[in-house]
Amino acid sequence: MPRVTYIDFQGESTQLDITEGMTIMQGAVMNGVEGIEGECSGSCACATCHCYVDEAWLAKLPEMSENEDEMLDDTASERKANSRLSCQIKATADLDGIVIHMPEEQE
Ligand code: FES
Repeated sequence: MPRVTYIDFQGESTQLDITEGMTIMQGAVMNGVEGIEGECSGSCACATCHCYVDEAWLAKLPEMSENEDEMLDDTASERKANSRLSCQIKATADLDGIVIHMPEEQE
């Protein structure tokens, strides 16, 4: 199972082994990790699963859809070059070890 490290805005980190195929958002929500909300349950329609992906992992991510790109223009915290919606990133063996930083706020 791919390991994901979630680091919240205060710098506290949580490591989880996520079932392959689940999304980074689902991993956080199902395990009570605060900082990622996922209000639309992964339909790419709320942007409350906004995250900052550690730079070292950016190149391994699936390409961003037009819809995700548009939603990222409407995040509660500042959009950065490494911003993604965590509901659009599936945990795969390729992403084993990925580090996700949570933004200050989601709403
Ligand atoms: S959970 Fe709503 S956009 Fe990701």
